[in-house]
Amino acid sequence: MRERIVSGMRPTGKLHLGHYLGVIQNWVELQHKYDSFFFVADWHALTTKYDKTENLKNDVIDVAIDWLASGIDPEISTIYVQSLVPEIAELNVYLGMVTPQNWVERDPTLKDMAKILRTKEGQNSQISYGLMGYPVLMSADIMMMNATHVPVGIDQVAHIEITRDIARRFNNVYKEEFFNEPQPILNHCSLICGLDGNKMGKSFQNDIKISDAEEVTAKKIMTAITDRSRLRKTDLGHPDECEVAFKYWQIFGSEDQIAQIRMECEKGERGCADCKRQLGALINEKFAPIREKRRYYETHIDEVKDILNDGSKRARAEAQKVLTHVRELVNMY
Ligand code: TRP
Ligand code: SF4
Repeated sequence: MRERIVSGMRPTGKLHLGHYLGVIQNWVELQHKYDSFFFVADWHALTTKYDKTENLKNDVIDVAIDWLASGIDPEISTIYVQSLVPEIAELNVYLGMVTPQNWVERDPTLKDMAKILRTKEGQNSQISYGLMGYPVLMSADIMMMNATHVPVGIDQVAHIEITRDIARRFNNVYKEEFFNEPQPILNHCSLICGLDGNKMGKSFQNDIKISDAEEVTAKKIMTAITDRSRLRKTDLGHPDECEVAFKYWQIFGSEDQIAQIRMECEKGERGCADCKRQLGALINEKFAPIREKRRYYETHIDEVKDILNDGSKRARAEAQKVLTHVRELVNMY
């Protein structure tokens, strides 16, 4: 049997280059090697935003459009919406029962999320029961398809560790090696930082969206941090201390381009403004085909909805097989 991957993303709206380089690009390659399931984790969005759901529907569509535009192929992969596969919620119940409370309390990713929530909304904000269940629900997503592998960004690896523990525990409790212990698949691409040098993120307003227009991209790139010690073009530059712009070159440029820029910068023959203008053009060139495809889907929303509905039906069929067996193992009525 072909090995199977499951991965998901929360519907946070239009995706940025960090999502593309860190996760989606990897999925696009892996879909040819694995039986692939990709879903929009709309329940997970509720773990922190249960009271801000006015854009949820649109955000789900936006994420799906970014995936399709980036090359996730609905003919090869199953693309679905988490909440359209209600079997996941039932599996979540069974998994919740076998998961010791201290396993979720120790989850470092969850601790980080809780910390951000507390600083954002003041000391009084409550971490909900649903948020505590984040790693269990995520395990249900993965185990629902009995995946063997989970391609994720490095920040999600701790969650996958818990999933492996939960799978092992379920198998022990119900005395059958039914669930795989899924392995994370990390991608090799170096993480892209935001324009200000911090982690790229929507809420930090330091991101470039897949969907940004070329002019917007070019403008944003002009704000990228460079070598702070450099004031004039003729000042000798230090590419390794060029905090953002040169790092982007290293991600998007060819070996030759990178070498030439390093040389010109170090000799004081390259101005930062020109350097970033070229960089903007390069990034726009790379994303032109993706953006064109995105515009197609934006004007064919019904097609996107059909893809999500069909995919969700396919995912449900798989989920029902797994759930039937789980109910048997647990001795449900
Ligand atoms: N937690 C993931 C994120 O924030 C999204 C996610 C939910 C996920 N369920 C998953 C990823 C299952 C991989 C597998 O990006
Ligand atoms: Fe960075 Fe380019 Fe300026 Fe050198 S010339 S410091 S590489 S932006």
